[in-house]
Amino acid sequence: METLRHVVLFVHLIGFAVLFGAWAAQAFGGRREFTRLMSIGMTVAAVAGLALAAPWGLPEGVELNYAKIGTKLVVLLAIGALLGIGTSKQRKDGSVPPAMFWLVGILTALNAGIAAIWR
Ligand code: HEM
Repeated sequence: METLRHVVLFVHLIGFAVLFGAWAAQAFGGRREFTRLMSIGMTVAAVAGLALAAPWGLPEGVELNYAKIGTKLVVLLAIGALLGIGTSKQRKDGSVPPAMFWLVGILTALNAGIAAIWR
């Protein structure tokens, strides 16, 4: 079970990498627009993250930090709302408001920071 948990963590990290990588490619050299790859990465990170939020496959004595997980869930919902609203604006107007675009990158980095630093 512990190995399976590590596999799910690996999938979670791939989702994060796809979301952040797709965003960074647009931010630094692309058209600063939302792409399908960002939504795909976010969905993969979200599904794997929710699976990791349940207490299974943990080593003896290790407990989950639910304040941290809850905070990450709120941040993820904000990213999802921004991607959803921004993508529909983009279809209508041809571009995403810059604040929405930058917030997606900042909030994704924030969630990775929370994951790595908050113990
Ligand atoms: C875009 C959103 C997210 C990003 C960028 C992200 C990023 C990360 C990263 C980089 C790690 C590895 C850190 C480590 O192992 O120390 C991690 C682990 C983890 N994430 Fe996420 N995550 C996101 C969303 C979520 C969500 C929505 C949940 C659950 C509701 C979640 C739950 C977890 C859990 C339980 C771990 C295992 C390690 C730990 O307890 O911190 N993540 N995440």
